[in-house]
Amino acid sequence: PASLRAAARGTGVRIGTAVDMTALADDAAYRAAVAREFDSVTAENVMKWEAVEPERGRYDWAAADRLVDFARANGQVVRGHTLVWHNQNPAWLTEDAFTPAELRKILRDHIRAQVRHFKGRVYQWDVVNEAFNDDGTLRDTIWLRALGPGYIADAFRWAHEADPKAKLYLNDYNNEGINAKSDAYYALTKQLRAQGVPVHGYGIQGHLALQYGIPDTVLPNVRRFDALGVQTAFTEVDVRMQLPADQIKVQAQAQGFTSLLQACLLARHCVSYTVWGFTDRYSWVPDVFEGEGSATPFDEQLQPKPAYHALRNTFLLA
Ligand code: G3I
Repeated sequence: PASLRAAARGTGVRIGTAVDMTALADDAAYRAAVAREFDSVTAENVMKWEAVEPERGRYDWAAADRLVDFARANGQVVRGHTLVWHNQNPAWLTEDAFTPAELRKILRDHIRAQVRHFKGRVYQWDVVNEAFNDDGTLRDTIWLRALGPGYIADAFRWAHEADPKAKLYLNDYNNEGINAKSDAYYALTKQLRAQGVPVHGYGIQGHLALQYGIPDTVLPNVRRFDALGVQTAFTEVDVRMQLPADQIKVQAQAQGFTSLLQACLLARHCVSYTVWGFTDRYSWVPDVFEGEGSATPFDEQLQPKPAYHALRNTFLLA
């Protein structure tokens, strides 16, 4: 098969990428690769709150709609990212400008408006993103402070009312293996399900770094969520390294990518595997981690790296 997408067909796992909308508009080779290699797309930035409601009450869906239209034209599904987060919120949304009751209404209106807008066109939503600290305590955010821990259940209920067919996910990083953070997600998911809260999925971002190693309890972690009856998805996989890259590092990187894919293919209800950008030409990593990069399966010339071939071969074995 000539592509990841072809190799993934019939495995039950979709292969996705985050999409940079500027690159999609300006770079024909990038655009062709998104269409050829992937059957699921996620907006890297344009579905975040600051992008869709830059001024209070003025919604701007233009860029997000362009991605949804591109996906439809190419037979792809769309993961929605993200409804509730502590980052990339609009500048007008500050804690001191509103009372807790107002913030609750603002959050509800935002979730309703966004999920309704994309109803039937987004098949999974990252409803609450990065709610926990690595030690398993709830992250101190505008939402936790104003609304208390119940904001999580409320967000899922509001999203479900707006599109009862969409699969609704929790999503985080450093939660691949069994650790304090994934334990907290396990306990929360179990509790929410017992209360009838419509949470359907556990999202594992999968931002790995070679220097920290590849987590080794990914499969048992994913399987315990299987047992709770929820889906799992790898939502933002990349494997960064200290630059310069060399042959050994890119080989080790391929192992990082495939170890997460193997866990997904071995699990019962792991439905998608998404990379957070597929080419080093546009990756977020060098902007955030000084001296690091080369985190994706294609190099800056859009040539496939060992990770690309390893992912494709892994799909073919499944
Ligand atoms: O759009 C502005 C542009 O107008 C301006 O000139 C430029 C100058 O810095 O900034 C541009 O905005 C940047 C935006 O990406 C779009 O490129 C922001 O500065 C930059 O902070 C933002 O970074 C994004 C980051 O989330 C912010 O939190 C990354 O692209 C995006 O890959 C990253 O994605 C997150 C997931 O949503 C959640 N999980 C972690 C993941 C990686 O951090």
